[in-house]
Order: sequence, then C-alpha cells, then structure tokens
Amino acid sequence: MTESLRGQVSLPGDKSISHRAILLSSISDGLCEISNLATGKDLISTIEAVKVLGVRVRETGPGRIEVHGIGMGNFKQPDRPLDCGNAGTSLRLLLGLLAGSNISAKLDGDSSLRRRPVNRVAIPLRQMGAFVQTTDRGTCPVTIEGRKLRGIGYALPVASAQVKSAILLAAISAEGQTEIVEPTPTRDHTERMLISLGVPLTTSDCKVSTRPTDRIPAFEIDIPGDISSAAFIVIAALLLPGSEVLLQNVCLNPTRCGYLQILRRMGADIQTDDIVIKRGEPIGNLFVRSSELHSSRCDDIPVATFIDEVPVLALAASQAEGVTRFPNLGELRVKESDRLSGILSILDAAGAKIEIDGDDLVVYGPNKLYAPDVDTRGDHRLSMLVETINLAFEGALTERYVDEIGISFPEYYDVMKSLLHR
Ligand code: S3P
Repeated sequence: MTESLRGQVSLPGDKSISHRAILLSSISDGLCEISNLATGKDLISTIEAVKVLGVRVRETGPGRIEVHGIGMGNFKQPDRPLDCGNAGTSLRLLLGLLAGSNISAKLDGDSSLRRRPVNRVAIPLRQMGAFVQTTDRGTCPVTIEGRKLRGIGYALPVASAQVKSAILLAAISAEGQTEIVEPTPTRDHTERMLISLGVPLTTSDCKVSTRPTDRIPAFEIDIPGDISSAAFIVIAALLLPGSEVLLQNVCLNPTRCGYLQILRRMGADIQTDDIVIKRGEPIGNLFVRSSELHSSRCDDIPVATFIDEVPVLALAASQAEGVTRFPNLGELRVKESDRLSGILSILDAAGAKIEIDGDDLVVYGPNKLYAPDVDTRGDHRLSMLVETINLAFEGALTERYVDEIGISFPEYYDVMKSLLHR
C-alpha cells in the first residue's frame, strides 16, 4: 500500500471552547464576535438553546457568529424545552448557567443523552440553592428553576470538566465564594476564559476558587483548532508510512494534551512550535511524521487529559510493539455511548488483541488489522475510529458515517481526503 497523509491543514475551532464562548457571550454586556467556531451539531444545540432563552445570534460568515449578549440575569422564560441533542456539554453547562437565573427551563436531548448521568451536576447545583429535577434514573429530561444561589465548597467525586464548569457558571452569580476540588486535573477552558474576562478566579493544583461578578464584558474570540479532532489525523499520519502533516493553530492546552504525551512516549515523531497565548489558551502548530510505535506506561498521566482520545489511542496501541494498559477508564462507559465496550468491539472485530480488565483497557500489539464490519452506536468518535482503521489498513474511507461524525467534526472527510496521497 502506498497511501500516506501529506500536507497542512487548519482545523475548525475546539468544541469545548466553542460551547463556553457561546454561553459566556450570551450573558455578556453586548456584541461579541466569535470566529473559527466549531461547526458540529453539538454547537448548534448550544446556539439554538441560547436563542430560545432570548439571545440574538447571527451567522456572519463560515464559522463566524455575532452573539448579542443580554447581560447576567436577563434570560427570557423559554416557551419550549431546550433541546441539547447529543451534547452532554450543552446540557450540563446550561444547567450551571441557568441555576442562578430567574427563569425555569426544561432541558432534554436525544436517546444517547437521555442515558447519561445528570445527577453529578444536579447534586452540587441543589447544594447551591437551585431547584433541579431529573428523571428517577437521574437523567434528562431535567427541569431547573433558577434561584438566588450561595457559593459552596465541593469536592468532585469524579474528574469531570463539565461538572466543574457547571458549578463555576453557577458560582459567578452566587453569593460568596465557591471552591471546587478535583480528584485529578480536567480541562480548564472555563477557568481560562473567565479569568480573561476579569472574573475573580484563582487556581492551584486541583483547586479552583471563584467569587461572583456583576458583569461579563462583551468580547471577541478566535477559537483555536480542536485538539481532539486533530487526534484522528495525528494517529492516521503516524500509522501510514511516509506521512508528514502540519496542523496549524491547534489548542495546545496541557489539560487536553495527554494523548500527545502518551504518543511521544510510544515513539511518535510529533513536534509543536510557534506557541502563543490567546485569551488564556496556548495555541500552536503540530507537526507529525509516521513513526514506529512501542508500548509505554500511561498510568501517571491524568485520564481526563486524554479521555476523548482513548478510542484512537487504543488503535495506536494495537500497532505498538508490546502491551499497553490504559487504566481507570470507567468514565468512558457514560460518554455518547458505552465507549469502553465500543472500542473493544470495534478493535476486536478489526483483528486487534484487546481486552477489558475491570476499568482498564489492555492492548497487545502489533498485528495487522482489517476493515471492521461493526456498529458504531451512533457515536462520532467511534465512527472516526472505524474510519481511521479503514484508512490505515485499506487505504480508503468508507464515508458511511457523515451524520455521526457531523456531531463534532463535519469537515472530517474533506480534511482527510485533502491530505490523502497515493
Ligand atoms: C468536556 C468534558 C469531557 C469530555 C467532553 C467535553 C467539556 O467530559 O469528555 O467531550 O467540554 O467540558 P466530562 O467532563 O464529562 O468528563
């Protein structure tokens, strides 16, 4: 096979940062401009939700929107449920933002979101004084009634940036101080954005403290490229001999770069350069060349810093010499699908030697894989895993998963085809 990935590409904006930019701009004091916004369906859920809450949002170009912030405490009583679609981030962060409002809202989502836990957010928001009612199973549809909130001290029982962010978005309108302690570090985009907007917030190790603010000033933001989408290009390039890819303007926040650390330990030739800080986020270029991989330990790198990349990391491990163990992946069971079993069934069907041991994933490499004929459970990251296997071992994409992949990375097929050389 002679296929390789070659060329350079600038990726659409990071999904996590995009959600936060829309939510914070909606409660800002005025006109905000957001460029290089993520284009996936998850973001449309957040945009549609803030529109139902009375915020004007106008598309001004590809990946470019204007949000007419209405100020804190000014959401309009919604006349219909807020549909979060497939997006856990929309659901959980909106609950935080609404907890201190003076409206009530019902939030719902698709069949995948209706299976995912909401109690992890409902519990701390209730402690802050909000009324939150989930189903008996602790899932959505969920009703929230905003109340006057008080700050809390809260130790997160699971390492979750969504839960941390929901509490922080509630804390900015609560009375008194809020202090959150995380079991291990999780993505800190909310903290970085709030600090850049002048909110009194401090962080140290795994502790975040914040106090309320009267206003969020209007702002402009150019969202850096999505480091999680980049993973599917990086790993395809590592596996296809003769590949050389430059990814420009990628978010290189260390709380998202766990997978780069692991891959480098496995022998991957990945360089970063031109790092600048914009709105608190480190941004730079990623240069990847195909590489021979070997297994490495990952147990000393916080799982949350690579949780969304485990599907494609497991593929990399299946091509690495030796045994790779990814520990403590329990959280993968409550993602858009049960991703832990999804990864196993896809890689197993593709011919990899892989097993689940408790909450750990153990991969024995290397061996040649085949295009797996298996259900991707409507999960965008599992669909991109299957396409990465197809690309690396059959030299072609099936292009069967346009819908699923459109959740986070609608440009996936165009980007991959533009880089693919025969
Ligand atoms: C996200 C946090 C992570 C991640 C998700 C996006 C965020 O979820 O898996 O894709 O934007 O805060 P958890 O916080 O539930 O771990």
